[in-house]
Amino acid sequence: MTHEQHTIAGVTVTIRTATANDAGRLHGYLSRLDRSERELRLPDKRVPTYEEIVGAVRHGGVLIALHAERGSELLGESAFTRSGDLAQVELSVAASWRRRGLGRLLLASSVEEVSAAGLVRCIAIVDRRNETAARWFARRGWTQSWDSGRFVFHHVL
Ligand SMILES: CC(C)(COP(=O)(O)OP(=O)(O)OC[C@H]1O[C@@H](n2cnc3c(N)ncnc32)[C@H](O)[C@@H]1OP(=O)(O)O)[C@@H](O)C(=O)NCCC(=O)NCCS
Repeated sequence: MTHEQHTIAGVTVTIRTATANDAGRLHGYLSRLDRSERELRLPDKRVPTYEEIVGAVRHGGVLIALHAERGSELLGESAFTRSGDLAQVELSVAASWRRRGLGRLLLASSVEEVSAAGLVRCIAIVDRRNETAARWFARRGWTQSWDSGRFVFHHVL
């Protein structure tokens, strides 16, 4: 379980493990992404249903970043799904909150959760048009490969 606070641009931001009570706001956040953002964040381009989000949250591994004074405002999210000893990580930061270090904090917390879950490898799948995210993972030291027209970034814990 993650629960931490950071100060970003003078705002207290809480990063914590999501619970089933957060499913509504996560669904709202993902539903409000415009089409191009949705294509960057969601591998199958489809917003998960409320029930799917509840399922993902119950399995653990979903983190949310919240504006501590405006409790309902979701600033970013990160999730990992397991497959054997591998975790697939996905994340996004609300467009107006990017380039302030929040993505880096979410990724670091996710990697810690992956490690705590006993998994030893992470991958992130990035659409070939998403050069911003590709460069971002590369700068974090993740190793790049290419599969079926998409970037696959690897990180060994
Ligand atoms: C990829 C993504 C999550 C990065 O989030 P972010 O919050 O912008 O990431 P950060 O702020 O941690 O890092 C971005 C850059 O801002 C810089 N930065 C960090 N703090 C900063 C600050 N206070 N002021 C200015 N720049 C800053 C970082 O140094 C970083 O540059 P670097 O990569 O050269 O080190 C975000 O672009 C996003 O949501 N993209 C859409 C979804 C997506 O593509 N997801 C990935 C596939 S699942």
